[in-house]
Amino acid sequence: MRPLIRTARCCLSARVRAMATLPMAPAATAISSSSSPTSPLSTSSLPHRLLLARFLPATPAPAGTRGLRTSAAAAASAVEVGGVNIAREDVVKEDDPTNNVPDTIFSKIGLQLHRRDNHPLGILKNTIYDYFDKNFAGEFDKFDDLCPLVSVKQNFDDVLVPDDHVSRSYNDTYYVDGQTVLRCHTSAHQAELLRDGRTHFLVTGDVYRRDSIDSTHYPVFHQMEGFRVFSPDDWSGSGMDGTAYAAAELKKTLEGLARHLFGAVEMRWVDTYFPFTNPSFELEIYFQDDWLEVLGCGVTEQEILKRNGRTDHVAWAFGLGLERLAMVLFDIPDIRLFWSNDQRFTSQFSEGKLGVKFKPFSKFPPCYKDMSFWINDAFTENNLCEIVRGIAGDLVEEVKLIDNFTNKKGMTSHCYRIAYRSMERSLTDEEINDLQWNVREAVKSKLKVELR
Ligand code: PHE
Repeated sequence: MRPLIRTARCCLSARVRAMATLPMAPAATAISSSSSPTSPLSTSSLPHRLLLARFLPATPAPAGTRGLRTSAAAAASAVEVGGVNIAREDVVKEDDPTNNVPDTIFSKIGLQLHRRDNHPLGILKNTIYDYFDKNFAGEFDKFDDLCPLVSVKQNFDDVLVPDDHVSRSYNDTYYVDGQTVLRCHTSAHQAELLRDGRTHFLVTGDVYRRDSIDSTHYPVFHQMEGFRVFSPDDWSGSGMDGTAYAAAELKKTLEGLARHLFGAVEMRWVDTYFPFTNPSFELEIYFQDDWLEVLGCGVTEQEILKRNGRTDHVAWAFGLGLERLAMVLFDIPDIRLFWSNDQRFTSQFSEGKLGVKFKPFSKFPPCYKDMSFWINDAFTENNLCEIVRGIAGDLVEEVKLIDNFTNKKGMTSHCYRIAYRSMERSLTDEEINDLQWNVREAVKSKLKVELR
């Protein structure tokens, strides 16, 4: 399995992504960066892995690439989440250059897969709840219905994400307008819950990130955030300072959680970086012959506690990606399956049964189509993927850069291979040719690239 933080698959740009909770090893940008793995259960700061463009200045999407959207129709014109009514026109604003939410994304809002008790994500959420109920009876408040539309302030400023952090860019985040986004992590709710007087909480929700396409990446996925505040009384007798105490408590709690989910596994802690925690760590477990990134966590920055009524306290926080763990625990080979309504998928899972192995109902053949074009300065892989997904929906399995060269005149050509495959049926040649034709036309007109 790929490590969480890595260079983009294509060596093309050295973009790395890292909010620790992404479904699998991520492709685009996020909020952490990490140092090298270390020996089991120790932290260290060996020479760091590549941290490149996540820390480059954010660039607004060029006109013409903003608000890319296609014909895929939204399922409903309004949905309700946590008592908030969200209409399509509140979220998809085709003529607003500060909006980049396509219908394919709107159609996912309100589905809340994590609230279905017979769905792998719901089963996993409930199993994590069980762990906290057993070990901290009644202490943690649980939220799984908070509205995914949040302010830029909640999503970024409140958790100290720097102004020039790449996760703020239009290329990485879905903006409803200049002040509102679809949350890209559940950390967006930390500050408001603290202000509300909460000291122990778990927040589960759907999160949204513009991204490339493969079997482990989908622009909507699910996270769980954990947060616990300590007061000076908690650590005064421990012989440790508040930060060391919170870090020790955090590691103990999360090692217990990992054992609850995976059994007696080998684990290791890896130092990393998040804007909202210091120190910051990732937990990895040795599972099926590989180190698997399980979650990101750390001791909350004092500034966050101070701003929200908890001066002199300390806290720990963690965030984990539910799909990432569920794919491993249930043997689910493709992230699109979580969205499937096919009975042959849904009927395999039932409440309370973690780790039942998914049996593929059949394997349909993929069909590959290549497409080459001269890129321009505004080109990004995320914009390309948004177009392909807008046309092919969940029939697209992967979009992969297979060739990349620059000619003597300085023009750069990319060749992408698109894999089309349904999880549920065989696709006809005609259907795929139509899709590919539409993709080519849309790529030409929306990305203004020159097809070769
Ligand atoms: N928000 C981080 C992410 O999305 C995860 C995280 C949460 C890390 C809390 C540290 C503390 O990757």
